[in-house]
Amino acid sequence: MSATGVTALSHIAIATPDADALAATYVSALGATRGGEEVLDDGGLRVVFLHAGPVTFELLQPLKPEHTVAKFLETRGPGLHHVSLEVADIAGQLATAKASGARLIDEAPRPGAHGTQVAFLHPKSFGSVLVELCGATEKH
Ligand code: CO
Repeated sequence: MSATGVTALSHIAIATPDADALAATYVSALGATRGGEEVLDDGGLRVVFLHAGPVTFELLQPLKPEHTVAKFLETRGPGLHHVSLEVADIAGQLATAKASGARLIDEAPRPGAHGTQVAFLHPKSFGSVLVELCGATEKH
């Protein structure tokens, strides 16, 4: 196990029913630029990336009512969905987190946006913030 902790803030993810409208605000108000976008989870989720200086935002727009982000919007409304932390060794970091007693959502890394490996940690252990570990370093 060679977990070396967090190496960067990967992105801040925001759940929204209208990613284009929200992106337009970040562009006009904060000078953000639009990055790539993709559809994940068998067409259930649209992901739009925004870059603002050193910060990347990931806008999550559900496309199917049964998607977990759609349920999130229903119960909590638009807002902060998760914070994604880049780690050098995602499997090792998951093992370290589990051994520390923290609750995990994903026991093993799984495919995330733009070819990365991701794993979610449970908000109950992290101040009610959903934390995503992200294993890749490439920019998008
Ligand atoms: Co994310």
